[in-house]
Amino acid sequence: MKPSLFSPLRVGALSLASRIVMAPLTRNRALGGIPNAMMATYYKQRADPSRGAGLIISEGTPISPQGVGYADVPGLYRIEQIDGWKQVTQAVHAVGGKIVCQLWHVGRVSHELLQPNQAAPVAPSAIRAEARTYLVDAHGKGAFTATSAPRALHRYELPGIVHDFAAAARNAVQSARFDGVEIHAANGYLLDQFLKSGANQRTDDYGGSIENRCRLTLEVTRAVADAVGRGRVGIRLSPVTPANGIDEAKPQPLFDHLVRELASLGLAYVHVIEGATGGPRKVASRPFDYAALKAAYTQAGGRGAWMVNNGYDPTTAKQAVASGHADLVSFGKAFISMPDLAQRIRHGGPYQGLDQATMYGGGEQGYIDYPTL
Ligand SMILES: Cc1cc2nc3c(=O)[nH]c(=O)nc-3n(C[C@H](O)[C@H](O)[C@H](O)COP(=O)(O)O)c2cc1C
Repeated sequence: MKPSLFSPLRVGALSLASRIVMAPLTRNRALGGIPNAMMATYYKQRADPSRGAGLIISEGTPISPQGVGYADVPGLYRIEQIDGWKQVTQAVHAVGGKIVCQLWHVGRVSHELLQPNQAAPVAPSAIRAEARTYLVDAHGKGAFTATSAPRALHRYELPGIVHDFAAAARNAVQSARFDGVEIHAANGYLLDQFLKSGANQRTDDYGGSIENRCRLTLEVTRAVADAVGRGRVGIRLSPVTPANGIDEAKPQPLFDHLVRELASLGLAYVHVIEGATGGPRKVASRPFDYAALKAAYTQAGGRGAWMVNNGYDPTTAKQAVASGHADLVSFGKAFISMPDLAQRIRHGGPYQGLDQATMYGGGEQGYIDYPTL
């Protein structure tokens, strides 16, 4: 029998009640970088798998002070942050939900005002991102601002970044009681910057060839898998997205190679953003064959679940799972405005739209006040 969006699935060490996943969504409501009770309410509203998500992926969660690129995003490197996240995971587990933590280092997509000692953000190469970040002024008013010019990371700093990913993974699973972690290697942030030649012009063994550009992502993935067990690790990729000013002229061989290497690591899932994140599912200048990517992974022995994202609606999501295009589908904007998205899909609607003005920052409005059926 063909699987449906509502068929359960074993994903690594996790037993999921459905194929409907809540995509990672930065909401800038963690004042001072510490998760709070309002966030616990927000995640809990979406966590009951019979009405909401079979799996929640947390908002991007910086692994270190250097990994921060936006105001009021929740980290996972201080004791207060771990304690804050514990209330979130407890609230999710109380209604039978599952939640993994998205581990994030923004690299060059940051601003000096957000960095330790107001230093320049770090990157593979000293190339500024054509991107904006989100700052909050002394009066609490938020605004989008151009990112600062980055400095190139020294080779001797890279083991420290690998270590920070592994330490944050341990904090997530062993201390804050997340069910697992997702390595954020998408959307033009640090690992994606190392992968793609538009941001990586290094001449050492972390730049140049495809093998070299994949090195940091694979080192991070191995270290995180060693830290928490490979069945609790997923990874997010975005082969062609132009998000945050990232570009790669030849994405297909790069990502085919990367997933072949990931195949042997035994991860719980691979999460692929198809097209431009939050935009068109096809990028005209960067054609990409996602079926070939999945085939490269499975032919190399990859057994993890295949998760897809970007612009799916209930109809296309059902088709994706029934046709075998994917095992799991993640929804972003739909989960902001519909905490009970699964129930609405089951009933064929009604679907309710999103208030763009309250997406980033603010309080309860547009965050925990979206009505359920
Ligand atoms: C408000 C907002 C915040 C987002 N934050 C993140 C994030 O923290 N990490 C990430 O990988 N993607 C993030 N994304 C991208 C979404 O996960 C998703 O890829 C995108 O919204 C496309 O999926 P959709 O068409 O189902 O909304 C964000 C998107 C939105 C709209």
